[in-house]
Amino acid sequence: MNEGIFRKKTLRHIEKEVAEGQSDGHATSMQKVLTVRDLTFMGIAAIVGAGIFSTIGKASFDGGPGIILLFLFVSVACGFSAICYAEFASMVPVSGSAYTYSYVAFGEVIAWIIGWDLLMEYAIGNIAVAISWSSYFTSLINSIKIGGVQLHIPEYLATDYWTAKYGLSDAARLAWANAPVIGGIRFICNIPAFIITAIITWIIYIGIKESRRSTNVMVILKIAIILLVMVAGCFYVDTANWTPFLPNGIGGVLAGTSAVFFSYIGFDAISTTAEECRNPQRDLPRAMFLSLIICTVVYILVALVLTGMTSYKNLDVGDPLAYVFSTMNSKWANWIAGVISISAVIATASVLLVFQLGQPRIWMSMSRDGLLPPVFARIHPKYKTPSFSTILTGLIVGIPALFMNLSVVVDLTSVGTLFAFVLVCGGILRLQNHPQRLQSKFKTPYVNSKWITPALLILSAVLLGLYYPGGYKAALGMDGDWEHIRTRIPFWLFGIVFTITAVLSFLRNYSLIPVLGFLCCTYLLCESGVSNWERFLIWLVIGLVVYFLYGAKHSKLLKEEKL
Ligand code: ALA
Repeated sequence: MNEGIFRKKTLRHIEKEVAEGQSDGHATSMQKVLTVRDLTFMGIAAIVGAGIFSTIGKASFDGGPGIILLFLFVSVACGFSAICYAEFASMVPVSGSAYTYSYVAFGEVIAWIIGWDLLMEYAIGNIAVAISWSSYFTSLINSIKIGGVQLHIPEYLATDYWTAKYGLSDAARLAWANAPVIGGIRFICNIPAFIITAIITWIIYIGIKESRRSTNVMVILKIAIILLVMVAGCFYVDTANWTPFLPNGIGGVLAGTSAVFFSYIGFDAISTTAEECRNPQRDLPRAMFLSLIICTVVYILVALVLTGMTSYKNLDVGDPLAYVFSTMNSKWANWIAGVISISAVIATASVLLVFQLGQPRIWMSMSRDGLLPPVFARIHPKYKTPSFSTILTGLIVGIPALFMNLSVVVDLTSVGTLFAFVLVCGGILRLQNHPQRLQSKFKTPYVNSKWITPALLILSAVLLGLYYPGGYKAALGMDGDWEHIRTRIPFWLFGIVFTITAVLSFLRNYSLIPVLGFLCCTYLLCESGVSNWERFLIWLVIGLVVYFLYGAKHSKLLKEEKL
């Protein structure tokens, strides 16, 4: 059957790709060196970063100690998605992650959309990570004195033009005031963000073994330091700080959705290294679960310690962990605050590394399928890494990181990633009775959702009416003007999606775990704010234009169809 732009990859295509990847000496083959331990470390490397060191501050400020509920909910939502990712990784053991999975489940154009969307999770998300690394690094350097000489990075070399212009912080105001003026324009850019991107790009370029070694070292260091923080923090916890548990209600907790979700992003990124794993079908699922479980435990403990050490009201800062220790009025606690800053620099660098590693591998897969020009799949003859794509990723992240203010990028990255998670869970549902699925070595445990999903829908509707302040009218935004209704559109969409899913679950006996993953991630997506949705949709429309200009005409499957 000619499915047009919805043409799908079949088992035959995947087997061919796996065989090509395995053929020794094949021009496109990569080194198969990663074990389950390396992959778990990579997962932790990608997950523990700017989220737990930085964005948790604002989330705890909004939600109070009850933020741990959000950490738990998001972890469960990610857990459902991880099970679906694991099944796909075991069924389709080639690079490309959600892009390749969508090619199998939904067909080419949706796969392209996901590939384009992942650019938001990986490359654009990394711009934010690089900027965040730069701020930790700068404050670390500025706190060092050598032989009485205070080290200092000028503010105008460690921030971006817009942040400086609007002068929201002391550092930004200093940057604006002290920047040299060249040709009438103030010279302000973020040099550390560019340099760290260049260094990481170089490590990734020269080989997967070097990347693995660097990741392992960074993960051991950051986990050791976080454990130290948790143990030391216990001595300063005052349980009185845990009451009130929900000072701003559930609404306050949900305000931190994007930030908390951002802190969990990363376990999915390891699936991009499928072709460099010794046994991807066995090891990728294990590593995803292990890294997610370890990080969930770490996050909840950190959130408990953080909100126990000080009142949630003090946590609206960019470096909450270091901050709470620095306010403890003890030499020992101040020393720990310094150690946390070093750890944050290491942790953020490791996130950067894994995502910089993932992006070129997704492009490589897209290029092999003919959706991007062949140069994107070029493998370096000596280093065996996707050379052109790696350098391009470095430039796409490094150059904007010099100039851009991307506080908004955390939200956009979360929206982009949630969208990928929704499609991966939906993909497993779509393939539920498909012969392709039978090949998978890891299968999502089946529980029939026939009655459970409709029951959940009814229960949610009842709870909404009972507990949402203002009832259904307020929940749907009908108690305000158009601007107010606009902000509730994602919520309407969620209601429609939930209803359709309940009907389909009833009719098709859908498997419960992917249904729950799909619904939880759709819900989180709806909590991400309508302006993020608008930006995201514009991004997807640009992606579709690019697809019709290039991919739709050069697709390998299209060429096969024509033969
Ligand atoms: N989870 C990653 C972080 O928190 C993206 O930095």
